[in-house]
Amino acid sequence: MILLDDVKLWMQRARNNEVGYLLTNEDEALLRNMTDEQLENDIEILFSCPVAQDPVTKDYGVVYRWYFLAKWADALKAAKSDAPLKVFEVAPGANDKIPQAIAKYFEHPQTSYVTANVDKKLTAGLKRKTAGLPIHINIIEDAAQNIKSYIGEELFDVIAFEHSVNDILYAILGERAGVDMENAYWFDIVQQLTDITTAEYENGTFEANAKPAFLALMQSCLDILKPGGYIVINHFMYKNDLDRGINPELWRDMLPIVREWIKELPEGREVQMNGFNTHWWMFLQKNI
Ligand SMILES: C[S@@+](CC[C@H](N)C(=O)[O-])C[C@H]1O[C@@H](n2cnc3c(N)ncnc32)[C@H](O)[C@@H]1O
Repeated sequence: MILLDDVKLWMQRARNNEVGYLLTNEDEALLRNMTDEQLENDIEILFSCPVAQDPVTKDYGVVYRWYFLAKWADALKAAKSDAPLKVFEVAPGANDKIPQAIAKYFEHPQTSYVTANVDKKLTAGLKRKTAGLPIHINIIEDAAQNIKSYIGEELFDVIAFEHSVNDILYAILGERAGVDMENAYWFDIVQQLTDITTAEYENGTFEANAKPAFLALMQSCLDILKPGGYIVINHFMYKNDLDRGINPELWRDMLPIVREWIKELPEGREVQMNGFNTHWWMFLQKNI
């Protein structure tokens, strides 16, 4: 088992309330009122992966929300220590952790969050969730590889992939197999995308069919990154994908697999950041 992070360290951070203020008041109270035993148990379960929802409420829980929000704040600060910050996020769906972390830590008149997301319903959800944030927000409803046609000469400090390498790969292979990626609702087709991806992996066609389009997307990201800026990628295992039949080895090793592909791009080099397990995180710095 490859733990996501250090349990004792995050126990301490929770108890020092070091990062609690990133949460809503309700979540902060939930976290504060947990006993040490409950907290340690929930952190251990989260870090052991796969990450599971409560079967009844479908909630991932406060420890999940707190940890990933705080960890992304750490990741953004590792990439750039102060405001203003310009971030482009690839394929967030309706997940607002990164714009939330940016708004809390990097509020500044020139801080901006730009993203590209294909799914219309999830894009609308993200627009709703980020509407009041005190930073410039531009949510583009298109594939991330088309980003250059929307932003002119703008360059970013950070390009973020929050658990989205799998989404990109599913979409590449799904599109190849004829799935309508533009008009379908993601969660109506995700079983089909999972089946296609697992079949490609198990038949040995995964790399040949996914790598060229994946690297083209990564190159589009490098093209809009400032020299010295970072592409920051994370991955971890959700239980839902395993239940749908994603190949467990591919699911566990997704980042090490694409890391080997990314090494072929001459414009970036990987930097190891303290406190980030390289099985689950990658920081690729663009050459200066
Ligand atoms: C499950 S959702 C969100 C995932 C989010 N990364 C997370 O883990 O919370 C998957 C999203 O990936 C988006 N997506 C997949 N490939 C994409 C691409 N090449 N460009 C932009 N969005 C993409 C889909 O449109 C969908 O909104």
